[in-house]
Amino acid sequence: MRKNIVAGNWKMNTTVPEGVQLAKEVCQAVSAVESLKCDVIVGVPFTHLTAVREVIDINKVGLAAQNCADHTSGAYTGEVSAPMVASTGANYVILGHSERRGYYHETAQILKEKVDLALQSGLKIIFCCGESLEERENGTFKDVIEAEIRDSLFHLTTEQFQNIVIAYEPIWAIGTGKTATSDQAQEIHALIRSLVADKFGAQVADDTTILYGGSCKPSNAPELFAKPDIDGGLIGGASLKAADFMGIVTAF
Ligand code: 13P
Repeated sequence: MRKNIVAGNWKMNTTVPEGVQLAKEVCQAVSAVESLKCDVIVGVPFTHLTAVREVIDINKVGLAAQNCADHTSGAYTGEVSAPMVASTGANYVILGHSERRGYYHETAQILKEKVDLALQSGLKIIFCCGESLEERENGTFKDVIEAEIRDSLFHLTTEQFQNIVIAYEPIWAIGTGKTATSDQAQEIHALIRSLVADKFGAQVADDTTILYGGSCKPSNAPELFAKPDIDGGLIGGASLKAADFMGIVTAF
């Protein structure tokens, strides 16, 4: 049985003290929920990883970096490698976010290298994919999503792929307040699951957690999470307040 997951992506928000406070609040709130129906993860800036790891119970709240380098070590000023992330006690890394693909020119090939290095370091990966508004409107969106997944993940072995969570995040829904309808999201989640089934088999596809991201909030999470192929969310803005985030965590 696949896991439901609600993961926060804080993006470039909060100072270290603010982030530590937020993580504490989330961990306390998660601990207070009687029968939690999902795993909870916080995706924090690199600078916060060690401090946040110290204040959370990793068995209750997973810890994700939002990126890692496409090299292991060496003369890459300003970069942070997968082994460095793992050494903080983080257990996940978010890769392929549209903001990284768009603003920092991360290609499928670069992401493939990051995926390999993250897995070698024992990190699980939340791998993001999703189309732009133009791609949605010109009808190429399914091909775009298929290529993003195929070109960075389909070289993996079945065993490796079991450490991948996929997040479908339509770019036009990120930070815009414009959520995909639950039917639009379900259509793409089912497509992603069928691609995984074709490549890795029905059992692996059935076990793969597929998250929705893009203006997900407490008010729309229940309808989204009720869909058969939507196994939780990757949450931006609404993950920055513990109460909002918990409103999504408890939406199952
Ligand atoms: P918002 O929830 O702010 O739309 O962001 C979604 C996202 O990009 C999560 O990775």
